[in-house]
Amino acid sequence: MKELEVRIEILKKLKSQVYLLGFKSFYIAKRASPGQLLHLKVDSKVTILRRPFSIHKIKKDKVYLFFKLRGRGTKLLSQYKKGDTLNIIGPLGNGFNCRSSVIGHRSSVLVAGGIGVAPLVFLAEKLKEMQNAKCKMQNIVLLGARTKEEILCESEFKKMGYKVQVATEDSSQGFKGTVITLLKNLLSTIPAQGWSASGGNHQLSTNIYACGPNPMLLEISKILEKYPQINCQASFEQFMGCGIGACCGCSIETKSGYKKVCKDGPVFNLREIW
Ligand SMILES: Cc1cc2nc3c(=O)[nH]c(=O)nc-3n(C[C@H](O)[C@H](O)[C@H](O)COP(=O)(O)OP(=O)(O)OC[C@H]3O[C@@H](n4cnc5c(N)ncnc54)[C@H](O)[C@@H]3O)c2cc1C
Ligand code: FES
Repeated sequence: MKELEVRIEILKKLKSQVYLLGFKSFYIAKRASPGQLLHLKVDSKVTILRRPFSIHKIKKDKVYLFFKLRGRGTKLLSQYKKGDTLNIIGPLGNGFNCRSSVIGHRSSVLVAGGIGVAPLVFLAEKLKEMQNAKCKMQNIVLLGARTKEEILCESEFKKMGYKVQVATEDSSQGFKGTVITLLKNLLSTIPAQGWSASGGNHQLSTNIYACGPNPMLLEISKILEKYPQINCQASFEQFMGCGIGACCGCSIETKSGYKKVCKDGPVFNLREIW
């Protein structure tokens, strides 16, 4: 982890409130893993605290973030221009553990609620990179949002070979409802030993990777009470102060005591939280 000055190479509006920001950083690109975050100093005169953002994707030495307008900090960030410098600290925290999917031959179900899709593109790329060409496990992405306008990155996942299912609350695209119903329907189709083209009696199962609002993550944890063999890693959002484990501002209660989202997380085993 390091404090760096980076020069913005791309900052563009993708949808009404969502922006893609890209810069070159060999240091971050070489060290970051999916689910880790960067802490951005937006404008220290107006916003004292840094803002945390997940790493959206990495292409060679280019690092991308994906952000949605929320308040003052993200509004200011959206007004930066190509060539401006940005002060960042990162990569921070513990991200997703992809090894259990690859080594354990587990099918991967990525569940995204709204802007929660941000870290899952980097994760999807990493999973694909780690799975060898002969891997027959299924990779599925469930995308949920209020409207079609808020469905993000669908074509990127498809290009990587993921099956994508979409749910919108206003039924403007895909299934009418939430990503939670999609997940329930999907899990009800899993054979006892997980999805696998090879069948057999080895212990195949499924890993879920989720990012989205806390109520969505809570619903997933309730669904998983019925599926004790399924593991879920979830990325949690929490207000942050220092971002480096020094202030306890981002603590959340887990079954084994309080943990810091910026340092112990942001990715936790869902069963550790609920
Ligand atoms: C680990 C992590 C990863 C994140 N990744 C992304 C991402 O990839 N894309 C994205 O759009 N957003 C992401 N967020 C949320 C993002 O940090 C907030 O939207 C942003 O800080 C809001 O700042 P603001 O000044 O615009 O909003 P304001 O509401 O004005 O912010 C005021 C204060 O609240 C904090 N804050 C507000 N909302 C949140 C929130 N949901 N989570 C944490 N702190 C918040 C701000 O950091 C700031 O200190 C992530 C949050 C965390 C904790
Ligand atoms: S933000 Fe300070 S400990 Fe996590």
